[in-house]
Amino acid sequence: MRVTVGVSGGIAAYKAAELVRALQRQALDVHVAMTRAACRFVQPLTFAALTGHKVLSSLWDEPDPNDESSIEHIGEAQWTDALVVAPATANILARFAHGVADDFLTTMALATTAPVLVAPAMNVNMWNHAATQANLEILRQRGVRVIEPGTGDLACGMVGEGRMAEPEAIADAVLNALGRRHDLAGEVVLVTAGGTREALDPVRYLGNRSSGKMGYALAEAAQSRGAKVILVTAPSALRPPAHCEVVKVTSAEQMRHAVLDRMEETTLVIKAAAVADYRPAKVLEQKLKRSGPLTLELEPTEDILAEVVRRRRPGQLIVGFAAETENRMENGRAKLLRKGADAIVVNDVSGETTGIDSNLNAATFLTPTTAIELPAMPKRDLAERILDEVAALRRSKALVVEFEDEARESGGADQSEIVAPAVRRQTIVE
Ligand code: CTP
Repeated sequence: MRVTVGVSGGIAAYKAAELVRALQRQALDVHVAMTRAACRFVQPLTFAALTGHKVLSSLWDEPDPNDESSIEHIGEAQWTDALVVAPATANILARFAHGVADDFLTTMALATTAPVLVAPAMNVNMWNHAATQANLEILRQRGVRVIEPGTGDLACGMVGEGRMAEPEAIADAVLNALGRRHDLAGEVVLVTAGGTREALDPVRYLGNRSSGKMGYALAEAAQSRGAKVILVTAPSALRPPAHCEVVKVTSAEQMRHAVLDRMEETTLVIKAAAVADYRPAKVLEQKLKRSGPLTLELEPTEDILAEVVRRRRPGQLIVGFAAETENRMENGRAKLLRKGADAIVVNDVSGETTGIDSNLNAATFLTPTTAIELPAMPKRDLAERILDEVAALRRSKALVVEFEDEARESGGADQSEIVAPAVRRQTIVE
C-alpha cells in the first residue's frame, strides 16, 4: 500500500523523517510531498534518500512520459491509499479548509479521494485562535482525521497545546485509516517457527539452518493486527514477541502434537517452521562412539501441514511455506496442490542475501489461482505483506460464503454459478 506524507513548513518537519520510517516499518510504500516552506526546514534530499522516491514539491516539473499519469499531482492523488500531513501548520490547515490549490500538496489534497489525516503543530496561541479552530472544524466535518497535538514545551519557548503528536501515534492513525491495524481482530492465529531437531543420541541431533526469524516476524505482525497468536516454536535464539502464547517444542513429532492440540480454537494456521522430513529410526540411549564409516537409518516424519489440512474445520485458513532451491514456482505449485493448503509462501532459499537465517526474504504468495510476487525486503516487512494477502484471502472467501448463503436463500443457484469474487492485483497462473 502507498502512503503520501505531506510536510508543511514548521519546526516539527524534522520529525516527519521518523514518521516516514515508522510507516516503512509497516511495509508501506511512502512518498513525500513538501511545501516550499518545509524545504527550508528539511532538505528534500533527506526524504528522497529515505523513501527512494523523488520528493514531490512543484506543480511545474517536466512530466515523465513513462509515468502512467503524466500529471504528477493527479497521479499521486489517484494512486495513494492515504495522505497524512505532518506537521500541518495553521497555514496549510487554512488552505486545505478553503480549497486553495497553489502548490503540489494542496492541489493533491483536493484531487485525492483517499483518507486525509493532519497532525497539527504550531504555537499555542495560533492553535487556540478562532480561525484555526474554525478551519479544523470544517476539515473534521469533511471527514479529515485530525491527530490532536499534545501539550508541552513548544519550539517558540512557550508551554501549551500545539506540539505535534509523536510519529508512532501518527503512524498508528494512518494504519487505522487504511483499515489495516486490526484486520486480524477475532482471528486465532497459530504460527509455527524455527527448525525442528531430531535426536540421534543424548547429545546429537539432525537439524536445519532455520533461525525462526520469518515465523517470529509473522507472529509479531499478526499480534499487532489484532489477532490472538499461538507461536509453536522449535529451538530458536530469538526472543518471542510479547503477548503471544509460546509453546516450545524440539522435534517434528512434538510440533505435530502441539499443533493438533490447538486446532479446535485456531482460525488461521501459518506453517513457517522448517520441519524435518526424516528422523533417526532409533534414538541411541548412549552417546554414539566413533568407529569407522557410519550409515544412519532414517524414517519419515508425519507431514503436519497435510494432516492439518485433512482435519481442517470450516472457515479455517491454512497457509504453508515452501523452501525451494530450484524450480521454485513449479515445486511451489506442486506443493500447494499436494498439501491442499489455501496458500503457500514460496521462498527461494538458495540466495545468499535472502532466505534461511538472513534478515531479508523474498517470496511468492501462491494460491490455486494467483501468484503475488513479494520482492526482497526485511522479514518483518515481508510478514506484513504476507498478512495483507492472507487478510485479502479471508475477505474473498467470506464473500463466497455470503454469495452461497444468498444463492441458497433465493432458491439455490447450482454450484457452477458460484464464482469466487475477483481478487485484486491477481496474476492468474497458467
Ligand atoms: N511441513 C510439515 N511437516 C513436515 C514437513 C513440512 O508441516 N514433516 C510443512 C512446513 O512447515 C511448510 C511446508 O510443509 O509449511 C513445506 O515444507 P518444505 O520443507 O518446503 O516441504 P516438504 O513437504 O518437506 O517437501 P520437500 O522437502 O520434499 O520439498
